[in-house]
Amino acid sequence: MEAIERVCQFLDEAQTYYLATVEGDQPRVRPFGTALVYEGKLYIETGKVKAVSRQIAANPKVEICAFKGGEWLRVAGELVDDQRREVKVAMLDKMPSLKAMYSPDDGNMQMLYLRNATATFSSFTAAPEVVNF
Ligand SMILES: Cc1cc2nc3c(=O)[nH]c(=O)nc-3n(C[C@H](O)[C@H](O)[C@H](O)COP(=O)(O)O)c2cc1C
Repeated sequence: MEAIERVCQFLDEAQTYYLATVEGDQPRVRPFGTALVYEGKLYIETGKVKAVSRQIAANPKVEICAFKGGEWLRVAGELVDDQRREVKVAMLDKMPSLKAMYSPDDGNMQMLYLRNATATFSSFTAAPEVVNF
């Protein structure tokens, strides 16, 4: 399995991950659940009306943390806005429950992919494993 697929599968199986952004000198963190591999990139989804979206626009550096079955994953990187409709459609197809809140043409739904990402899989029992994508 490709590194990026493994990261996405971990996020899917964990169901919830925590997305950290920065606002000035203040870290901000909140639960997220959206993850999609599309054309070899790992996407997450948010709403442009949210503070998290404004923080990413001002500073695209983020970190994600998820925990599952004794293992945890951290992914650091930069988020890039992708406004293509087909990416939004692919996200809604993968996670249909999002359709209650978002649609591709609502002017709010935002798809962001990770660039220069470093993913670290850790546990108490094995050495950390680092993959880049
Ligand atoms: C389990 C869970 C998963 C969530 N997944 C997402 C998500 O993928 N995208 C999103 O924009 N908000 C998601 N949310 C909602 C955000 O956590 C919430 O809107 C948060 O307040 C956004 O951060 P902000 O207030 O700094 O803008 C999720 C909430 C929960 C409880």
